[in-house]
Amino acid sequence: MGTDNQLAVSLATIEGRNSNAIDRLAMALNTLLADMFALYLKTKNFHWHVGGPNFRDYHLLLDAQANMVFATTDAIAERVRKIGARTVRSVGDIARMQRLADNDAEVVSAQDMLRELQDDNAALVIHLKAAHRLCEQADDIASASLIETWVDEAEQRVWFLSEATRA
Ligand SMILES: [Fe+2]
Repeated sequence: MGTDNQLAVSLATIEGRNSNAIDRLAMALNTLLADMFALYLKTKNFHWHVGGPNFRDYHLLLDAQANMVFATTDAIAERVRKIGARTVRSVGDIARMQRLADNDAEVVSAQDMLRELQDDNAALVIHLKAAHRLCEQADDIASASLIETWVDEAEQRVWFLSEATRA
């Protein structure tokens, strides 16, 4: 048994927590982390490549959203370490775990960019809520609290993107 497993077990023992539930939560957080990195890079990709009549508005909106997404990544990874598990090590790890798809298209219209990000952020809300349900089983109120903030931020991104694409 490795040191990290021992740490997870000792946390479970000391606090009466369920180590299987903590393992499941750590897996969910790591998968969320991969999604956040994928969403960060896609949002930056669109920030760099967006064009058209609303260029400046969209360029700035996407930069603000990318920064918001990026800010979650360190907190998620460190939360995983705090509950005694290990987190992602590489772009390869992220690619193996991410649920949100990359967009490698050469040209994407501004409207398609915004709609795709709206769908991705809406999917992220569903994944965040699924991870939140695991927090109760793991008796992890700190992860639950952080996830609640990230749900609010993702819902804000969905709102802004939906208003920006409204006819
Ligand atoms: Fe920029």
